[in-house]
Amino acid sequence: MSYPYQIKTLDAYKKAYEESVNNPEKFWAAVAENFVWRKKWDKVLSWDFKDYNVKWFEGAKLNITENCLDRHLEKNGNTPAIIWESNNPEEPHRVLTYKELHFKVMQFANVLKNNGVKKGDRVCIYMSMIPELAIAVLACARIGAIHSVIFGGFSAKAIADRLDDAKAEFIVTSDGGYRGAKNIPLKSVIDDALVENKTVKRVIVFTRTRTPVSMIKGRDVWWEDEIKKVEAQGNPDFPAVEMDAEDILFILYTSGSTGKPKGVVHTTAGYMIWANYTFVNVFQYQQGQVHFCTADIGWITGHSYIVYGPLSAGATSLMFEGIPTYPDAGRFWDVVDKHKVNILYTAPTAIRSLMGFGLEYVNGKNLSSLQVLGSVGEPINEEAWQWLYKNIGKEKIPIVDTWWQTETGGIMISNLAGVTPQKPSYATLPLPGVQLVLVDEKGDEIKDSHVQGNLCIKAPWLGIIRTTYGDHERCKQTYFSTYKNLYFTGDGSYRDKDGNYRITGRVDDVLNVSGHRIGTAEVENAINMHAGVIESAVVGYPHDIKGQGIYAYVIFDNTHGDPNLSKQDIIQTVSRIIGAIAKPDKIQFVPGLPKTRSGKIMRRILRKIAEGDTNNLGDTSALLDPSVVDVIKEGKIK
Ligand code: WT7
Repeated sequence: MSYPYQIKTLDAYKKAYEESVNNPEKFWAAVAENFVWRKKWDKVLSWDFKDYNVKWFEGAKLNITENCLDRHLEKNGNTPAIIWESNNPEEPHRVLTYKELHFKVMQFANVLKNNGVKKGDRVCIYMSMIPELAIAVLACARIGAIHSVIFGGFSAKAIADRLDDAKAEFIVTSDGGYRGAKNIPLKSVIDDALVENKTVKRVIVFTRTRTPVSMIKGRDVWWEDEIKKVEAQGNPDFPAVEMDAEDILFILYTSGSTGKPKGVVHTTAGYMIWANYTFVNVFQYQQGQVHFCTADIGWITGHSYIVYGPLSAGATSLMFEGIPTYPDAGRFWDVVDKHKVNILYTAPTAIRSLMGFGLEYVNGKNLSSLQVLGSVGEPINEEAWQWLYKNIGKEKIPIVDTWWQTETGGIMISNLAGVTPQKPSYATLPLPGVQLVLVDEKGDEIKDSHVQGNLCIKAPWLGIIRTTYGDHERCKQTYFSTYKNLYFTGDGSYRDKDGNYRITGRVDDVLNVSGHRIGTAEVENAINMHAGVIESAVVGYPHDIKGQGIYAYVIFDNTHGDPNLSKQDIIQTVSRIIGAIAKPDKIQFVPGLPKTRSGKIMRRILRKIAEGDTNNLGDTSALLDPSVVDVIKEGKIK
């Protein structure tokens, strides 16, 4: 494939950016010409931020899998679409060419159809990183069903809430999943999630670990048996179902500042082009390269840069089942060496953790295939950036620092590899179509450079969130009510004299732990489920590897038993309610919380204490009981 819309020089970037802002409809219509449509659009863009309505390519008809699979068959049918590397380095890797992937997606689409899945139905996918996860995702897209992938680390309770919210009728899972030394009993977690569920009619189970599972009659079927039935039908083709440009492609749940995760909705055409355009431009993808994104498909990064971006570009996407430190801290470099990876897209937390193991795991690995490195998920600190640049890139290859969010569908701010300048710890410049605005507390735009403000976006881009599933009002409230006529990201940012953006982190009650977004309210709700807990407050604090750690202040009922055992219990409770990723790193029992007279917790003070900055607590005179602060300071967990 060739990519006529690939930006190849700094001047071309400037020109494209200008055009995208001055005449967005013309600009994106030209890009859209490079995709396969059943019917072209009547109107490129219509939008208003007041009622929050955005439509890209209204009237157009397409199916994203024709763009990700069918269109590559003739010229690139034998090109590897997915290279899969097992958690276990001894297990042979798998290669699925575009032809094979196309075949398997059609086969599984037939399985879905035989099990009653129709266009518009919600299918929850809870699997580990095996090719069948990508196949299930694409088969949903082919049939027009809405996929909702849930990361394999979430608990039964977290899944149950998401199933309810999406009113999902189908689940695709596997018996278990490997992750490092762990074997996660995925099907058993699903069984727990379904105890009180009333909507799920069918669970399709793939065999990965041979962990014993109980199959419920009339509800649960084996993937392999269902495939055999399709084979017995003679493996009929499954023509892609025609979708409207704005039909929902998927729901992906993410945390916010309230207790309940929200279902971020992305639709078909805009998301597809955004994932593709950003992939081709940010990584400067060249046909034939092997792209390795280390994220899990359970997060947006995996959706956009393992599945839809690379495959719509006819790329080879490497999918890795394991973790960076198993069986040892050299695993990423082994994978790069073994599969001659050209683009490595990973997270600062992974880099920081590998830095700690030392260079002995890097030395001796052949990394000469690498041409581009990428970072995502949280601000990359200068030290991690330099380590990556020197030891992995050998000071020769560009690093892209990509800022974006689940809600943005694809990368929003990033240098373009080797094309626009990079600057350590800066995401740098916005992509075409992305109109950034910094605002002050009052919501007024800050026009100067060399300033810090809250990061907002002025006009819709192709991949913008369309709604929060089942609750459009919530979407309006969350993103479009803080500042008038602007999308508010929830992040703070600094802008330098050259217009480069440096993201400084969340300004709302959302934590970023190892690149995973976790709402403090969500963790508090989970902690409060423990019988001995009276009240709790959760804040983030700087953590060497995770970026942010979770610090919980808990008012505990002392008649409830040994407080030290109870801390373990509280951690277990959070694991059970949300998942291991949300476990507090530190729990401090406190007699009270710093509250204002109106009962609001002053988190600023708790954050300062957790950060160890106890001499700078600022004005505490608004507190109902200022003395509680001294007691909390004294009991701080080191
Ligand atoms: C939040 C979004 C987008 C994929 C992964 C996370 C933070 C993301 C960067 C970056 C600084 C970053 C922001 C953002 N973030 N990338 N390159 N530099 N911060 O997706 O779970 O939706 O979280 O991650 O705070 O708002 P997410």
